[in-house]
Amino acid sequence: MALSLTLPKWYDLHTHLRQGALLKPIIQSQLDMGCCGVLAMPNTKPPAAKVFKDDPLAYWSIEEYRAMINAAGGDQFDDFITPMYLTKDTTPQMIEDGAKAGLLRAVKYYPPHGTTGADFSYPLVDLLKTDVIKALEDNNVTMCIHGEEHALPGEAYFDRETNAEEFFYRERMPRLLDAFPNLKIVGEHMTTKVAVDLVLQAGDNIAASITPQHLIYTVGHLVQGFKYHLFCLPLVKFDEDRAALRSAVLDPNNTKFFAGTDSAAHTVKATDCGCAAGCFTGGIAPQLYAEGFEAAGADLSDAQTAKAFEAFLCRIGPNFHGLKISEDTFTLTKTPQKVYKTPTDDGDITPLPIGLGHDSVSWSLSL
Ligand code: NCD
Ligand code: ZN
Repeated sequence: MALSLTLPKWYDLHTHLRQGALLKPIIQSQLDMGCCGVLAMPNTKPPAAKVFKDDPLAYWSIEEYRAMINAAGGDQFDDFITPMYLTKDTTPQMIEDGAKAGLLRAVKYYPPHGTTGADFSYPLVDLLKTDVIKALEDNNVTMCIHGEEHALPGEAYFDRETNAEEFFYRERMPRLLDAFPNLKIVGEHMTTKVAVDLVLQAGDNIAASITPQHLIYTVGHLVQGFKYHLFCLPLVKFDEDRAALRSAVLDPNNTKFFAGTDSAAHTVKATDCGCAAGCFTGGIAPQLYAEGFEAAGADLSDAQTAKAFEAFLCRIGPNFHGLKISEDTFTLTKTPQKVYKTPTDDGDITPLPIGLGHDSVSWSLSL
């Protein structure tokens, strides 16, 4: 009989639900893969960068974005977190009022112009000159960080010796941790050994999300034939980095590294003058995570290994974010499952395996 794992429904703690015609099919893809909730990133157009809809700032509010998500099927989630995008207009008062109203559980820092939808961001060095981060710490609001240094020259952005994520985790993150020892931080979509090591050495107030693509692939897979469907930010890195991610998630004592897919749909990936950053893994992320564990040498038929997998996928993240573990379950079975494009009124979304020339995953999922 094929190996099967029955797991609590899980929270995808870093995803992009988008907006308009994409919202409904993407939420459905999350429900289809056993999600009982998500953390939905705020890099919409305009960004979700204020809390209340009656605030005159020309952004979407968390109130409005939550209503859109609920109306598009998000009401089927047990719970979902909508972090507010940090901009030059964010004030300590917004943080305090949002937290008190129960609408603000997290915020998101983007490296200015450093990824899809990051054009409204305010540099961390400037944020540190305000009282915004203090307000996060005081109001127990989690700071979700896209940890890459912005505006680096090409040589420093991605080199064997240094890259934008390493720069951030060497230069910026230690200072932030020192200045705000009680601030709750998630290092999002971690890709480097430098970042993993920092999280391992730091206190319990910092944890990290890890995507399937960063567990499975390296930059070699991206550049060999330029598989642009694997182009996401932060970029997939080197074997040594992937090894650090793999050992972090396989560790039976892991309490800090959890699932957050960074599933980021683009109906047009390759454009006339470049490529949109983001891999879509809606509908198939648990299967890909299981493949990632196996690629790291894990035997998921072993009880202790299966426990580490369940902790990574279903328990560590919600514990960190203060979400309730679901009493409902879903099942992964070691039989291949075909993968399909997701049709939307704005065009098809190609999931990562198809983008890499694979039409199936080696695990199937049933609800
Ligand atoms: C994300 C997107 O498309 O919204 N892209 C990505 O490459 N991960 C933005 C982000 O999370 O960086
Ligand atoms: Zn993201």
